[in-house]
Amino acid sequence: VKKKTILDFYEMKRRKDKVAWITAYDFPTASFAEQAGMDMILVGDSLGMVVLGYDGTIPVTMDDCISHCQAVRRGAPNTYVIGDMPFGSYQTSNEDAVKNACRFLKEADVDAIKLEGGRRVMDKIKSISEAGIVVFGHIGLTPQSSGQLGGFKAQGRTVDSARELIKDAIAVEEAGALALLLEAVPPEVSEFISKRLTIPVYSIGAGLPCDGQLIICGDMLGQFQAFTPKFVKRYANVADVIINAFKEYIDDVKNERFPDDGHVYNIKDSMEEFEVL
Ligand code: KIV
Ligand code: NA
Repeated sequence: VKKKTILDFYEMKRRKDKVAWITAYDFPTASFAEQAGMDMILVGDSLGMVVLGYDGTIPVTMDDCISHCQAVRRGAPNTYVIGDMPFGSYQTSNEDAVKNACRFLKEADVDAIKLEGGRRVMDKIKSISEAGIVVFGHIGLTPQSSGQLGGFKAQGRTVDSARELIKDAIAVEEAGALALLLEAVPPEVSEFISKRLTIPVYSIGAGLPCDGQLIICGDMLGQFQAFTPKFVKRYANVADVIINAFKEYIDDVKNERFPDDGHVYNIKDSMEEFEVL
């Protein structure tokens, strides 16, 4: 399969072909996603919660993101990969934003970067775009500013807050982003934004009226146990599969059922040679 480009995603939008994407943080998951035919992969800073065990995304560093993007790229060489800019990597200045965005491309061979915020990060989006990099915007529930939002809460559920979201969406497009992700936003608002913008508008918890859907792999696979947002659909229960396998192994070891004859290397010579020792 040929790797898609941003033009393919524009064409998919035109044809109303929905884009299916997922987060992945490691080589095997990325490889499985590519084998399944995933349209794109986000190496989200949600890696802080899903694979590093933090209770939010704030502690995640550029080096964390780069190293996970590298693993994902190795696992999915022919899939469109988006690197997620971690907290502190773009808020400080336009120069930092461009420098860190460049790192994602130079060191991890990603196809695009994503950053959080609307009007307040317009200058960052513009600077990174002007460097020639594809930028995905992200508004609605923005985990990096969950302190200001008062937690991981759905956004745009009143007319006043929906109006702010719409202004942010327009700002993101005007700043030069080539796609926008809406997180935890009512479908009614998503539909309005999708119609108002030219760029593809994607959803994570923003309903059907978008050009595609994103889901966090740890949520949909049942790997992430701390909590499950309402917008998550569970497709597998990997925690049960893994815990049961571990229990069986422990039981086998304790009862000397493992390793059996099929899992050892028997000596090829006669044991008589050992007698001289
Ligand atoms: O980090 C991430 O996985 C994300 C999604 C929640 C949108 O940004
Ligand atoms: Na993120």
